[in-house]
Amino acid sequence: MANKKMVALYPGSFDPVTNGHLDIAERAFRICDELHIAVVANPSKSSLFSVEERVELLKQTTKHLPKVNVTSFNGLLVDYARQIGANLIFRGLRAVSDFEYEFQMALINRNLYDGIEVVFLVPNEKFIFLSSSSIKEVAKLGGDVSGFVPPEVEKALRRAF
Ligand code: PNS
Repeated sequence: MANKKMVALYPGSFDPVTNGHLDIAERAFRICDELHIAVVANPSKSSLFSVEERVELLKQTTKHLPKVNVTSFNGLLVDYARQIGANLIFRGLRAVSDFEYEFQMALINRNLYDGIEVVFLVPNEKFIFLSSSSIKEVAKLGGDVSGFVPPEVEKALRRAF
């Protein structure tokens, strides 16, 4: 049987992209044949950066990964996965606290579309404490976020606050 092409989707809010997200994107890139990083355009939470800004920051910070496609999507993740022919969804798992939410989301997604597998990737332990929301709070309060985000994002945060 011929090997099936692994077309993967790495979705998220990416508000903004952190070094932890980039670590997962690099791992995902090494595993699959084609990687689409997709910013959710209708998030359940309010965002600091617009969808366009988040896409642009991801594009700038994944330039070193050839042929990674950065996009945004509206509506259900599985509908977008179907639309682009993705058969894999990557999500990063930082800690046990992520597990319940991720497990539930993975099962819902697979029930909605059985053509998809959800694969959890473990980030480098340097990044397991990182989240976009804590970085925004540190930046807002004038703290140094240079160790947590790429320089392009650090600049964008400085402009935002
Ligand atoms: O980075 P996040 O905020 O943890 O990403 C969450 C995301 C975007 C993957 C999730 O909210 C999502 O898939 N939203 C699209 C709407 C959808 O499909 N919801 C059903 C999944 S339970």
